Amino acid sequence: MGFSEEVRGAVETIRNAETVSVISHIDADGITSEAIVRTAIARAGVPVTSHFVRQLEPLTMKAVPEDDSLKVFVDLGAGQQNLLEERGLSKEEVLILDHHVAQPCEIPYQQVNGVPYGHTKLSAAGVAYFVAKALDPENIDLAKIAIVGNVGDMMARETLGLVGLAAEIVEDGVAHGSVRVVRKDLNCYGTSTRPVHVCLSYNDDPRIPGITNDMRGAERFLSKLEITPKTADGRYRVWEELGRDEKKTITSALVQQLLANGESVDRLFAESYLFVDESERSPLRNASEFATLLNACGRWAKPRIGSSVCCGDRGTVYREAEYMLNNHRTIIRELLQFILDTGVTELSHLQFLHVRDRYPDTIIGIGAGMALGKLNWRKPILIMCTLPEDPSMTKVSMRTNEWSVRRGVDLQAVLTAASGEYGGGGGGHPIAAGAFIPREAEEVFVNRVNELLRDQLA
Ligand code: C5P
Repeated sequence: MGFSEEVRGAVETIRNAETVSVISHIDADGITSEAIVRTAIARAGVPVTSHFVRQLEPLTMKAVPEDDSLKVFVDLGAGQQNLLEERGLSKEEVLILDHHVAQPCEIPYQQVNGVPYGHTKLSAAGVAYFVAKALDPENIDLAKIAIVGNVGDMMARETLGLVGLAAEIVEDGVAHGSVRVVRKDLNCYGTSTRPVHVCLSYNDDPRIPGITNDMRGAERFLSKLEITPKTADGRYRVWEELGRDEKKTITSALVQQLLANGESVDRLFAESYLFVDESERSPLRNASEFATLLNACGRWAKPRIGSSVCCGDRGTVYREAEYMLNNHRTIIRELLQFILDTGVTELSHLQFLHVRDRYPDTIIGIGAGMALGKLNWRKPILIMCTLPEDPSMTKVSMRTNEWSVRRGVDLQAVLTAASGEYGGGGGGHPIAAGAFIPREAEEVFVNRVNELLRDQLA
């Protein structure tokens, strides 16, 4: 069986269902996957409801309805098939659309997953999109949302653009007319909403001496190049609205700056995905900023708001999403300041901090990522927090950067191994990973993570 057969099988199963319950994950990939699957199933005339979970674990299994609907698990399920079996779900009532490594299981649940076929750069939203398109070619309008899911799940980060099957989705988006690809854009977050100097100073991939983490430095850099920072009415301009020549002037100067410091220019450019049907300077205008808005909704327990925005709501619900985004940013800034003010403890290969119950477990990873650039960026950062709903457990988030990953660091491997040794569990990506561990193991766990990182860099 290949990926296409799995897709066809899923179409068959969905068409034969009386009703469908979608169970999805609260991050950008989960929210976009749910929006794609729900829309496609509803368009096929099958009644469908959705349920979001933070993670599929024994406690959250109660979100899975006890009825005779077809349960479609998206962006989760592959790695938790034993839970589905324990719950008594039969082969006939389950369909899994996922991109995580599948867990061996007695019941051969039906799945669509690119990973076994080598499609490792296709997120769940991508899988969901191929099923939607096979249900009805008209669903090509969902390509844009699938791109947001893939970018939000970091499928484009390493390769500086979407590749493989995900690149086919980009082609569909372009053909549909909602997506514009910028082939050699500046590899920088916030190109549609942030003032250019802010954008440049926040960027650490690549790190640019005198600009990264130096907002004044970035302003001086632009001023030397005679780039007008503001519009006639006094608003800061964003990267997207600069003229072609202005962009070229800036990138040429950045290339020179990197070369002068003996740094590689490999990561200065990346492919970016603009949505021409969204307003200029809105957080929905490009894939990575759209994904942030969805993460803000999901991480603050409002995934449905994000899902409605994916489905086109630009009224009251969208305003709520904007509020979620602003609130998210404010609290992340506070968390960042808290980490910097409190300071981290440095071990030989790691820096860490416990924030106790000050911040929810859904955002400590984001704070960790932002703090890393301002701390010792050569050492991966680990942030822990307590879980109010289960004080016997501790949540761990780790972040590093491309620089470390190129040198062999794989946080997903480290956290999966270390948390497993103490009866916890974890996962994620080489650059960003998370885990849950028993509270009493915190100290030994941190030392073990440090040891594993040392081994990876040896
Ligand atoms: O929670 P955090 O933002 O640190 O998660 C980073 C990455 O690790 C995400 O891709 C998340 O899905 C994954 N993760 C995981 N298992 C956990 C916690 C996080 O696979 N227990």
